[in-house]
Parts: sequence; C-alpha cells; structure tokens
Amino acid sequence: MAILTLATQPFAGQRPGTSGLRKKVSVFRQPHYLENFVQSIFDSLEGSAGQTLVLGGDGRFHNRHAIQIIVRMAAAHGFGKVLVGRGGLLSTPALSCAIRKHGAFGGIVLSASHNPGGPDGDFGIKYNIGNGGPAPEKITEAIYARTATLAQYRISDAADLDLDRIGHTTLDGMQVEIIDPVTDYAELMRDLFDFESIRALFARGFTMRFDGMHAVSGPYAKVILEDMLGAPAGTVTNGEPLEDFGGHHPDPNPVNAAELIAYMASAQAPDFGAASDGDADRNMIVGRRFDVTPSDSLAILAVHATRVPGYRAGIAGIARSMPTSTAADRVAAALGVPCYETPTGWKFFGNLLDAGMATLCGEESYGSGSLHIREKDGVWAVLFWLNVLAVTGKSVETLVREHWARFGRNYYSRHDYEAVDSAAADALMANLRGKLASLPGQTLHGYTVALADDFAYTDPVDGSVSRNQGIRLVFSDGSRVVFRLSGTGTEGATLRVYLERYEADPARHDMPTQHALSGLIAVADQVAGIAARTDRHRPTVTT
Ligand code: G1P
Ligand code: ZN
Repeated sequence: MAILTLATQPFAGQRPGTSGLRKKVSVFRQPHYLENFVQSIFDSLEGSAGQTLVLGGDGRFHNRHAIQIIVRMAAAHGFGKVLVGRGGLLSTPALSCAIRKHGAFGGIVLSASHNPGGPDGDFGIKYNIGNGGPAPEKITEAIYARTATLAQYRISDAADLDLDRIGHTTLDGMQVEIIDPVTDYAELMRDLFDFESIRALFARGFTMRFDGMHAVSGPYAKVILEDMLGAPAGTVTNGEPLEDFGGHHPDPNPVNAAELIAYMASAQAPDFGAASDGDADRNMIVGRRFDVTPSDSLAILAVHATRVPGYRAGIAGIARSMPTSTAADRVAAALGVPCYETPTGWKFFGNLLDAGMATLCGEESYGSGSLHIREKDGVWAVLFWLNVLAVTGKSVETLVREHWARFGRNYYSRHDYEAVDSAAADALMANLRGKLASLPGQTLHGYTVALADDFAYTDPVDGSVSRNQGIRLVFSDGSRVVFRLSGTGTEGATLRVYLERYEADPARHDMPTQHALSGLIAVADQVAGIAARTDRHRPTVTT
C-alpha cells in the first residue's frame, strides 16, 4: 500500500453554505471534486495528526463511494483512527454524539439533509469540530480559501473497506473501526429521558406513528421506540434507509410529509405522530388532527423541560435563529432566563452551548436540540415530547392550547419561492436593503413598522460578527416579516419569507394560519415586490 500524491486543479464554488457544501450528485461525481474539498478540509486543520475522525452519512446515493475515498485520504493525511458507522451510516446527531463520546478531533458528515437524493438528487459534505458541532465560519471560510489554490491531494491506494462488518481493521497504518451507528446515541437518549414513564405510556395503549421517510432516522427510531420503549412493531413506518429516499423529499414538514399529516387527520389517527429528515436532525410533531409549528414546539419543550430527567435542574437560556418565532422569547422571559437570537444555521448555537449560556435551541425549519450534542436532533425532540406526554398525561393539542392560553399564540408561516432567477432574487434583496431607512414609522395594511434592518449578529462568546443575515421588519404589535435567501439550495435562488403575528386573545386562537397572516402576506409583497420581481404569484412551498 502506498500514499499517492495526485495533481488536481481548483473547482470554483466550493464554498460551504448554511450547512456544509451541497451540490448535485453530478457535480460531486466529477473526477477530483470530492477529493479536492476533503483535502481542503484536512489542510485547514491544525494538530490532527494521530487523532480520531468520525465518518458517516445519511445513506443517500454516493454515500458509500465517498466514505471509501475519505477513509483513504484520512490515512494519507495521518489521522490515527477513523470511526465509521456500519454501512457508512450515521445520522447527523449520532455523529455529533460519537465525536463527543469518543473524544474525536472532528468528524465528516455526508448528507444534503432534506434535499432529495439519488443520481439526479443532491449530495453534501460537512466538517464538524471537536465539540461535535458544525465548523464555525472561520474554519469554513479557511476551507473555501484552500479550495481556490489546491494543486494536489493525497490518498492511499488501499483496497475498499468492508463497511458492513462491525470491528477493527487497519488501513495504511491507520486504525479503522466500524461501529454500530445506533448504540452510543441510544444510550445518550436513555440517560436524558424518563424511559420508564414512556414505556408505561406505550403499555397503557398510547399509539404513535414515526415516519422515517426512508432516511437515516429509521434504524434509530426502531431501536429506541420499538425495542427499548416497547412501542408496537410497525410504529416506525418508511423505516428502511434508501439511497433515493423512495423518490421523495425527506423533509418533515406538512408539504413533504403529507402522508403522515393525512393519517393524523384520519379516523385511525394515533395519539402522536412524528417525522424526521434525510439525516435525522429535523423533526415534525403532529397531534391527532393537530399540527405543531416548530417554533411552538421549542417554546413548549422549554416550559416543560424540568419534567425531563436531563433538564431537571432547569435551563440556562434558550437560543433561536432570527426568523424563528418569538414564542420561545416569552417562555424565556417567564423563566427569567435569556433568549439569544442568532443567524440561521446550527453553527451559531455552538458557542452559546459550549459556554453554558443556552440549554435549548431551535429553528423554525423543523429543528430543535440542546446541549446534549452540538447538532439539532430529530429523534431527541420526539422523545422529549413523548416524555412530556407521558408525565402530564395530556394530549398534544391540550398541551399546545394551554400554552397559547398562557403565553399567547404566535401565528407563523414560511413561504418559499424556490429556483428563482438568482439575479432577480439578488435585486429583490438589494432593493429591500435600500428601503430600510425609510420604512420605520410607515403603516402598511394596518401594520406600523417599528424596526427595519439587515440582521447582524455579534457572537457574545468570541465577538465575531456575521452581517447580512436577513432583512427583518418588526411591527409595533410584535408581528414580523423576514426575508432571506437560502444558503442550502442547489438550483437558482430560494427566497424565504417568514411571517409571524402575535395574538394574545384566546378567543382569536382558532383562525386558519394563512388567513391570520393575510395582512402580513400583503405587506411582504408590497415592500419586496415579490410577484413583480420574480414573476411568482404564489410560493412553491408554504409551511
Ligand atoms: C435551511 C434552514 C435552516 C437550517 C438549514 C440546515 O437553511 O432554513 O434553518 O439550519 O437549512 O438544515 P437555508 O436554506 O434557509 O439557508
Ligand atoms: Zn437535516
């Protein structure tokens, strides 16, 4: 076996976005494309010689091939050991858990999250640091800078590994261990949650459906829900990971998980429904004939946190991404703890969690998590809900309605305009930026603008500043409209419009969401000129 040094040329555009580098599979299949990016990661790390790297992915098309290449490059780079999930599988939260548990130097997760898979779908790669979380911008920018000058990469010429057999082997002097992808993670969940109460809940006949969307959460959900907690076999549906997710979009929202939503509204609806995405870091929570918004879910978990063993001592603070509704802020205020508002993307929570300033975090994009790892965590959120349902004996709907009655309801929706012409989307945002100074004080469709800005964030831990993180209009009644361009899309631009209206009066908590938000929808179009500039008269996806 030998280490080869191969000549290469830079590829344009290898800049990590909101969550790693995501491109079409066809882009990743170009000779040297993946290798260049991996070498750029390795070149940006200091002190990795002899250390451990954790490696796994969501099982999408190209996953196994990429794992073989990365293991051989890790050997060439001088890592001491690589831990690989069996079959090349590790959910994003399980990878974060493994980095922390095994004291690894970092990890590489192969996923394009909720984007479709298969030969015509998307692929992605993300580097996580030693705390288990996504690399901060300082590192992702260094990786990107390296991609622009790369002239060669190093790789072992060793034969392919058997990814399906648990155990130890060596490759060009580097240790390789194939680990069960579920075990460490399941143990962590057992330590955080009251498994006895949840087991008793299922024993009393509580019913649930977990939709794995043919992505990587299935094996985790089956072991934890069915084997450890005694939920009846068949509770987990679409539980086998498939390379193309069965041709679906593995995104747990009411649009892409429509089958689960329909089932939860049917006569056979179980007590509780949940779904998770491609790499199992997102979650959708559904009650019987009752959907829960991710922003409400975060707020409700925070209120009930002390009912859960892992959070019995209380929470130090909450962090939410800027577009996420302010429901959590009201809970934080009631608990007397701070609520941090960060830019979109989980990487911004890492410092707050490491510093013990925040315990729970969440995003409106069906993501929530806590300091137990440094990624959002789909199965964790489901278990948290189950724990709360088990110890309160209440239904999902009752818990949410009680929450609204106490704190008020934040009507919330996100409108996505996908694959919009990039130039038109950039012009729309530039035009909005140009208007910001003139908006405060104006009344639009009955809403008076109290604040209009381009969100900038100063990290309270390391002082780093992130600018241009979304245009935000805040109205005098606390309602908000936020505009930003997606950093994870792979086709044209995706404009996201986030709409939030606060309603304190319980007599007005039963409006259909889009109806409740109709005034703000009109404001958004008036201010941004969405229809005129993009020629789109309705969003592609409304969640
Ligand atoms: C989207 C979500 C964001 C999430 C990210 C990764 O990013 O909006 O909250 O952290 O996916 O899952 P965006 O495409 O908006 O940049
Ligand atoms: Zn994901």
